[in-house]
Amino acid sequence: MDIINWKDEFSVGVKEMDDQHKKLIGMVNKLISEQTSLTDQRTIADLLTEMTDYAQVHFRAEEYLMAEYDYDQKALQEEQHQAFIDKTIAFYSASDIGPNILSTALLDYLATWLIGHILKEDMKYKKFFKSKGLS
Ligand SMILES: [Fe+2]
Repeated sequence: MDIINWKDEFSVGVKEMDDQHKKLIGMVNKLISEQTSLTDQRTIADLLTEMTDYAQVHFRAEEYLMAEYDYDQKALQEEQHQAFIDKTIAFYSASDIGPNILSTALLDYLATWLIGHILKEDMKYKKFFKSKGLS
């Protein structure tokens, strides 16, 4: 699986959010690039936990901004963020956790969700935050 290369079109116009998105993409890229070499289940589980922990930090920061500026799609964003965390945790806390924990299905889900969410949902707040003077 290919790693995700950051492109300017991923920018949501708020530096703090772009930086957090870049860090999150970096964490997913680390999982993608080490998929075949990482064999220790504990290490993989730790990396995944680290990524979901940071995703939560980022989601809270994003939702905090949305609340502060009364963004009208905050509820939808919260729902999607929670669904992502739940689904990711479900992937790696399944009872049949085994050597395939870092499956292509999981990595594919993480990468597809992240890019899809940034480009579709987060991109909707670009204009909104810009109009509030954020950059
Ligand atoms: Fe978001």
